[in-house]
Amino acid sequence: MSGDQLKLGEKIIEGKTKVVTSLVDFPNQVLLQSKDRITAGDGARAHDMEGKAAISTATTVALFNLLNSAGVKTHFIKQNSDTSFMAYKCGMIPIEWVTRRVATGSFLKRNAGVKEGYRFCPPKLETFYKDDENHDPQWSYEQCLAANMEVGGVKIGRYEIDVMGKMTVAVFEILERCWASLDCSLIDMKLEFGVRSDTGEIVLADVIDSDSWRLWPAGDRRLMKDKQVYRELKEVTQEALDMVKRNFQWVAERVEKLSPKPHARAVVIMGSPTDSSFAERIKSTCTAYGVPCELRVSSAHKSTDEVLQILAEYEGEGIPTVFVAVAGRSNGLGPVLSANSTWPVINCPPVTGEWGAQDIWSSLRLPSGLGCGTVLSPEAAGLNAAQILSLSDHVIWSKLRAKKLNTWVTLKTADRKARDDK
Ligand SMILES: Nc1ncnc2c1ncn2[C@@H]1O[C@H](COP(=O)(O)OP(=O)(O)O)[C@@H](O)[C@H]1O
Ligand SMILES: [Mg+2]
Repeated sequence: MSGDQLKLGEKIIEGKTKVVTSLVDFPNQVLLQSKDRITAGDGARAHDMEGKAAISTATTVALFNLLNSAGVKTHFIKQNSDTSFMAYKCGMIPIEWVTRRVATGSFLKRNAGVKEGYRFCPPKLETFYKDDENHDPQWSYEQCLAANMEVGGVKIGRYEIDVMGKMTVAVFEILERCWASLDCSLIDMKLEFGVRSDTGEIVLADVIDSDSWRLWPAGDRRLMKDKQVYRELKEVTQEALDMVKRNFQWVAERVEKLSPKPHARAVVIMGSPTDSSFAERIKSTCTAYGVPCELRVSSAHKSTDEVLQILAEYEGEGIPTVFVAVAGRSNGLGPVLSANSTWPVINCPPVTGEWGAQDIWSSLRLPSGLGCGTVLSPEAAGLNAAQILSLSDHVIWSKLRAKKLNTWVTLKTADRKARDDK
């Protein structure tokens, strides 16, 4: 990857592993350039490692692409070269946000008596003040508040801290679920946030790479593939550094496989073409959650053989499928689909004001042995289909999880506005 010819401006900051530079033509953006450098212990241990910048950039870029498309707000814009990417310029909040699923490492030292392997449900959230000289001291929630930080013109108060905490846990859960699809356990993770210079919004920033987490293939500590291997080296030989680099490369290769194309689908069958605008609403919700959705027209009463043929064709393809039956008046469609298939069926009858109270019973009161559910709103039917399919598709699940996060943030923002407007 050669990279666009960007006009670089002044260097904004150079840290241990990256250089951040402003961009002449894009005043609200920066270039993050990775270095071929590995460090640990707040810089106490540091080595050159040829190729690390490219491995780290490939890892970060794949993860930010995954998070952006799930709907998480991040600073990432696009990759620029093998070793650099463009991001929104941020005022950085000097806190490291740590989430843990499993107790290990420094947590055990700080919490005597807790056994290694203890599982936190929900994940445990911890905050550390970024201060190399004082070895990044742990800060309580109250200390984060009391610091009264102001970053990029934004006062970091309760709202901002709560939003970052919620985002941290959501990002952890999304990446944990993605890694689980490759039989790898995400044990813990560190994130950083910034305030966008153009919008004042809090976004996930910095990088996510093998330095950000503990990652144990098959949940086995002995197989760890993260920077902990480097931290624990008794003697740093070239051979040992090559092994650490091979681990990072292993991760970079797998990260690319964390967002496969969907292997799932919703099929909306409507009893009449007059239901198509109602069916379209189901489809657009499915699409928003990354669920491919097809619309079909067939009537269980009037073209029964066609309904069974359509069912057989979808079943024959072997793609996990949720059927949604859209039939008003007497809904024979959903129950017939359900009785003749093992796939999940959702009834979403477009009930009318006039006869709705009577018609609904054809969806609710079913012959024995049928397991179809009934949802009245087309948006809820699309969401229900996405939730069912997310059981076996982590990309869909990630979108659902990010949506839950963003709904929470929207409510919190509205609440703040309501109080300010008083
Ligand atoms: N979008 C961004 N805008 C401005 N600065 C950023 C952005 N993302 C990350 N940074 C900053 O880049 C700096 C360099 O990274 P790094 O080498 O990891 O530094 P450190 O050694 O302080 O961890 C960090 O201070 C980090 O806060
Ligand atoms: Mg850093």
